[in-house]
Amino acid sequence: MNKLFFALMLFSIISCNEKAKQDTNKLMIPELIDSRAFNRDIQLTLQNGQHEFYPNIKSNTKGFNGHYLGPTIRFYKNESTRIRFTNKIGESTTVHGHGLHVEGKVDGGPHNKILPNQTWDIILPIKQEASTNWYHPHLMGKTAEHVHAGLAGLYIIEDDNSLKLPLPKTYGVDDIPLVIQDRDFTNGKMVDYSITEEENMQGKREGTLIVNGTVSPYVKVPKGWLRLRLLNGSNARIYDFHLKSKQPFYKIATEGGFLEEPIAITNLKMAPGERNEIMINMSNGQSKELMATFLPPERRMLSIGLTKKRVLEIRVDSSKVSNGTLPNKLNAIHTWKKEEATTTRIFELLTYWNDKGNAYAMDINGKSMNMTRIDEEVTKGEIEVWRIRAGSGMMDHPFHMHGTSFLIVSQNGKPPKPEDKGWKDVVIVNHRWTEIIVKFNFEATKKFPYMYHCHILEHEDLGMMGQFTVE
Ligand code: C2O
Ligand code: CU
Ligand code: CU
Repeated sequence: MNKLFFALMLFSIISCNEKAKQDTNKLMIPELIDSRAFNRDIQLTLQNGQHEFYPNIKSNTKGFNGHYLGPTIRFYKNESTRIRFTNKIGESTTVHGHGLHVEGKVDGGPHNKILPNQTWDIILPIKQEASTNWYHPHLMGKTAEHVHAGLAGLYIIEDDNSLKLPLPKTYGVDDIPLVIQDRDFTNGKMVDYSITEEENMQGKREGTLIVNGTVSPYVKVPKGWLRLRLLNGSNARIYDFHLKSKQPFYKIATEGGFLEEPIAITNLKMAPGERNEIMINMSNGQSKELMATFLPPERRMLSIGLTKKRVLEIRVDSSKVSNGTLPNKLNAIHTWKKEEATTTRIFELLTYWNDKGNAYAMDINGKSMNMTRIDEEVTKGEIEVWRIRAGSGMMDHPFHMHGTSFLIVSQNGKPPKPEDKGWKDVVIVNHRWTEIIVKFNFEATKKFPYMYHCHILEHEDLGMMGQFTVE
């Protein structure tokens, strides 16, 4: 071959590669299904898809009504919405409403199995305050794989307070959902889910960030205040989010609703399952970069040399202006006193190793998840204190429970920081005690109990989960 021709070809391949690396993709915004616009009757079909993370390269994925992820469903407090989930993925699964305060029979846990080609037809009566929640499969032993394939979507709840607050509220414009996940790709194709014995302990952690199914995303927003609804939808990775400029932003909501007032922060740590709403001031018209540090799985003193990746490039379209603002007062949170609690329960998240040093089992209180065993019986309407810790090993675990939201009483013997004083349903626990206060208002019977578990999906699938009734 002619040497010059070869050199030219090589050059063009290199420059083409360079270009591909620099290119960013427009952030996908999941379709919004407003329950009111659909007469509170929604059809969601779980299907196998072929999503293009990279142009013209199809990956095998799963989605609701589409190739990857699912629409954002908007509910209103004190309204009921019927949802029909039709399972077309060719295998059984379930659809859990993570963060919803609904009865066990419509919670979508492991007992609400949807067989292939069947429809799970439920009514969700929304009784809780405005918040950002999500839906995802919860089949025993299969949660990690099904979520990884793309089965997840957002449930946004609005109420009188959220509608009245002068916050940005135009979905996809100045009120933007970000479902953040990590995936591996080979030649642009998403690597299918698999897990080795070695990976089980840390959970599945992959190298490329995707946001709403978009690789290297950018978004163009109006000038003014920007509201982001963040969901860590990753299987196992914990992130520390910050702006590249180190500039402060405001946390306005946790999993279960608004904080009492906005809290200025520069860093936001989020474990799988957690949601937070933040506000960023974009009024100087300058682009910003939302970054994520990949936190190590094991507890560490120093955080030097950690991987840092860009989550989203935020560009400003100065011809448009958002009229949303940041109010000083967002919510009133009624806290219970510890003395009001009638029961205290203890949960220790435990890991067991084989002689190769791999985690072969994980459980809670020495009991691995068993669908035929009820681990705790809660009395409906009573206030309880739950004390939780990672009882063995060097890993922290995001502890989650179904059916309600809770408040943190103390962590490591200290009261929660102002930004952690909101309603939550996932909390990262370490080797020292985390105390939460909680009340369950909805029924979960033996037939359809609620779950509590680690939200590292591999740990959950390994058995770090238990069941409880509320009656
Ligand atoms: Cu998001 Cu029991 O799960
Ligand atoms: Cu849940
Ligand atoms: Cu865990």
